[in-house]
Amino acid sequence: MRIVDQALRIAAMVAVVTIVGCGSGGSPQSENYGNILDSPGGLVLLEEEHQAGWTRADCFGCHDVNNMHQVNRTGLPDDVVDLPGINAIIQNQGEASCMLCHGTNGVQ
Ligand code: HEC
Ligand code: HEC
Repeated sequence: MRIVDQALRIAAMVAVVTIVGCGSGGSPQSENYGNILDSPGGLVLLEEEHQAGWTRADCFGCHDVNNMHQVNRTGLPDDVVDLPGINAIIQNQGEASCMLCHGTNGVQ
C-alpha cells in the first residue's frame, strides 16, 4: 500500500515535470487503437494485431510511456480500468510490467 502511494506520488511528479518541462505544445498525445478489449486477443497481444512489434521486448522503443494509458476507451468504469494504477505499476517495474497485462508478445 505504502509503495503504491509513493509510486503514485512519483508518477504525479513526473507528469507535472513532463508537462511543465515541454514548453510549447507538450501535452501528452495518447496513442489510440480504440477499445483494445474488442481486439482479437483483448488486452493480450496476438501476432495478428501486433505485427510491427511482435517478439520485441523493448516496448519503449516504439511506445512512449507518456502517450499510453491516458484515455479510458474500454467502456468499463474508471475504477475498474484504473489508469493511474497502471501508470504506477509501470513507474515501478518499467518494461517488465507490460506482460502482466498484455501477455508475452511472443518473447521467449
Ligand atoms: C517496433 C515497434 C513496436 C514495438 C517494439 C512494440 N510495439 Fe506495440 N505497437 C506497435 C504498433 C505499430 C502498433 C499499432 C498496431 C499495429 O499496427 O500493429 C502497436 C500496438 C500496440 C498495442 C495495441 C494493440 C491493440 O490491440 O490494438 C499494445 C497494447 C501494444 N502495442 C503493446 C506493446 C508492448 C507491451 C510491447 C513490448 C512487449 C510493444 N507493444 C512493443 C509497435 C511496436
Ligand atoms: C495493469 C495492467 C497494464 C499494464 C501493466 C500495462 N498495460 Fe497497457 N493497457 C492496459 C489497459 C487496460 C489498456 C486499455 C487502455 C484504455 O483503453 O484506457 C492498455 C492499453 C495500452 C496501449 C494502447 C494505447 C492506450 O493507451 O490505450 C498500449 C500501446 C499499451 N497499453 C502499452 C503498454 C506497455 C508498453 C506497457 C508496459 C510499459 C503496458 N502497456 C503495461 C493495461 C496495462
